[in-house]
Parts: sequence; C-alpha cells; structure tokens
Amino acid sequence: MLYADPKKGPQQNHISPLSPPMSLVSETLAKLAPSMTLAITQRASEMKAAGEDVCNFGGGEPDFDTPEHIKAAAVAALEQGATKYTAAAGLPALREAIAAKLMVDNNLEYSIGEISVNCGAKHSCFNALMAVCSPGDEVIIPAPYWTSYPEMARLAGAVPVIVPTSEETGWKITPELFEEHMSPRTKMIIINSPGNPTGAVYSREELAAIGEVAAGEDIVILSDEIYEKLVYDGTEHVSIASLSDELKNLTVTVNGFSKAYSMTGWRLGYTAANPEIAEAISTVQSHTTSAPTTFAQYGALVAIQGDQGFIDEMREEYDLRRRYTLNRLRQIKNLSVIEPKGAFYFLVNVSSTQLSALNFADKLLSRYKVAVVPGEAFGDAFMPDIETIRISYATSLDILKEGLDRIEDFCRSY
Ligand SMILES: Cc1ncc(COP(=O)(O)O)c(C=O)c1O
Repeated sequence: MLYADPKKGPQQNHISPLSPPMSLVSETLAKLAPSMTLAITQRASEMKAAGEDVCNFGGGEPDFDTPEHIKAAAVAALEQGATKYTAAAGLPALREAIAAKLMVDNNLEYSIGEISVNCGAKHSCFNALMAVCSPGDEVIIPAPYWTSYPEMARLAGAVPVIVPTSEETGWKITPELFEEHMSPRTKMIIINSPGNPTGAVYSREELAAIGEVAAGEDIVILSDEIYEKLVYDGTEHVSIASLSDELKNLTVTVNGFSKAYSMTGWRLGYTAANPEIAEAISTVQSHTTSAPTTFAQYGALVAIQGDQGFIDEMREEYDLRRRYTLNRLRQIKNLSVIEPKGAFYFLVNVSSTQLSALNFADKLLSRYKVAVVPGEAFGDAFMPDIETIRISYATSLDILKEGLDRIEDFCRSY
C-alpha cells in the first residue's frame, strides 16, 4: 500500500514487546491523521526524484511562479532592513490594502483592526477555529471537505459534524441539511466557495439561504474564499458576509495570497471578522507565531496593490485545462464527473470501477504513475455509496494529456 489507510488510525509507538504500549504524543494528536494530500504530493515527488515518469495530479498548488514584481518587493524590503517583527495582526499598511481590496472586490467594509494577516489561509482557518470554538462545540463541515477542516476543529477541542452532500446538490450543503445536523452545541459552519475538492461555487441565493439558518441560531460562519479569483464561465463569487450586516457580524472571511498570486511558499493569508473575534484571532497569533514573516508581507502589499493582470492570465490558462480535462473525463469508461465552476480540481466519481478510492489511487500510482488524491482525504467515508478521487489541474496541458491517457488505459481494465 502506498498510502496509509486513515480508517485504521495512527500507528501506536511500542518501546519494546514487553512494555505496555505507550505514546509520547498527546491524546489530541494521537487522534489526528497527517495531511494525505501533502503525503501524496511528497510520494509523487520522491518517485520523480528516483527517475520515475510520474504525472502528479495530487497537488493543490499553482504551477506558476510568483510574479517578478512581487518577488522584487520582498527582496527590496529585505535589503532595506524589514527583518524585525511586525504587529501581531500584521503590517498596518498591508491590512489597509486588504481592507481596500475587500471593499472593492467583495463589497465588505472593514477597518484595519478587524483584519489579521496570518501565516497562510490554512493558519487563518486554524486561528478562526481557535478564536471561536470552546471545547465540545460542534462545527458543521459539509463533505466532501478540504482535508484540514475536521482536524483543525479537533485541534481547537471542537467536534466536527460532517454533513455528507451529493452530486445531486452539486456537492453543496442545503439549508435543510444544515438544519438537520444542527444541535444546541453548534457553534460554527464552514463554507468553502469556490470549493476544494469539488470546485463547487455557491450562488448568492444559496448563500443567503444558508446565512438565514446560521443567523437564526447565531452560528458563526467560517467562509474560506481562498479560491475566490478562480471562477469560470462568468460564475460570480459572492462573500456571504456581504449579504447583510447580521451575516457580516457572524462571519469570519478567510482569504490569502497562495492561490491568486501563486504565493504558496510565502505563507500569507488573512481573516476579516467583527472586532471581538478579530481581537481573539490576533491574541492566538501573538502567542503562537507572533506575526507573519515581515519581508513576505511587503511582497504581499505589492501583490494586492500592483497590476492584477497576472490573475486573469492564470485564470484563462486554468480554464483551458479545465475544459480539456472535463471533455476527456466525460469520455473515460467508468468515470463520472460534474463540471466544476471554480478552483482547480475535479472530484471524479470512480464507484463504477468497483474499486475503493484508496485502491484506485494506489493502483493508478504504482502501475500507471499517476498521482491523484483518494476521496478518503475529503470525507468519502461519510458517503458510503460513493468512491471519489481528486484530480488537480494545476499542472501543464501536456502533463494533463499524458496523465489522462494513462487514466483512460487504467479504467479500460475495470
Ligand atoms: C480550501 C483551502 N483553504 C485553505 C488553503 C490553504 O491555503 P494556504 O496555502 O494559504 O495556507 C487551501 C490550500 O490548499 C485550500 O484548498
């Protein structure tokens, strides 16, 4: 098996056959699974480094370089001595630029005191969960979900409540499903639009309906909008916080620089939230990372204030790949897929192959050298009748073509 089976849980540490099993890690961490998507990317990289011809569709990382003017700004900042701590919540100038962006792009009015710059949008989500959830609070997470949400909720002492969705609802939670899974302990719901791994984008009306349920019970909404700029076919991205003052007060909007500006390694994300939550987020951060990296923040400032043309070029390229991949996938035996309108992923239903997703991904990598992420990473276990894999098209058209040829060959035998 190339991939560990998450259903079997983490390995126990044994000191010797005679001593009782003992773990030196905390009970919280013992229950946590490492990120399967990162593990697969690493495995594919190792195979490549060993000279194997691997098509890697596993990664969640843009394949473009960070634009030169952004890199130059960080280098200049370094040379000018921007090497000390910033305020815990980030550079005031950057927070001001983020506030201006939220106003223009998202119709959201925030003061800089309500914005916190964090070490990646992943860190923003984690900070938000830490700031909002008390032990035992429940967090509603629609499945398929981004692999880190349930584990982050657990790290914050909260209980993830997974709500399976289906292809019929376009992999989106409905207000009815939300209500069905609510309890007196529900503190938060996580909405990720455009979504990873499904590429689903919630419409204004869908968000309004979910917002109405949340507002009725004062449930905080963590709105992860990291793929905001990657929407296709004229699809509109809507920030749920912009729908009413009530929803703005309940929402922590998360966004960042990784996907829009191809700045994954810079580790910069941000949150916008009401002053009480914003202060709590800043406090969490002040005791954990102190602040994000200073010269990286200067790069981000130029990213957000500079020429945005790069984003359009990147989106057009992704769209080309998206349409090509959709066309190919629709023609491959035993696979089915719904058209993603955002992000850079396809969630592919492989149930007709009669293979488990884990088995499918395992065989595909070992025999055909194509890395994909099995749905186990996104909550397949909560959808008993369906097996899925995720294909990332953040890779060149040539590699996509080659990898899809191999997937076609592989599927022919099932
Ligand atoms: C849905 C979602 N949220 C957040 C992140 C994290 O982004 P960052 O690299 O800025 O931490 C990712 C990255 O893959 C993601 O897919």
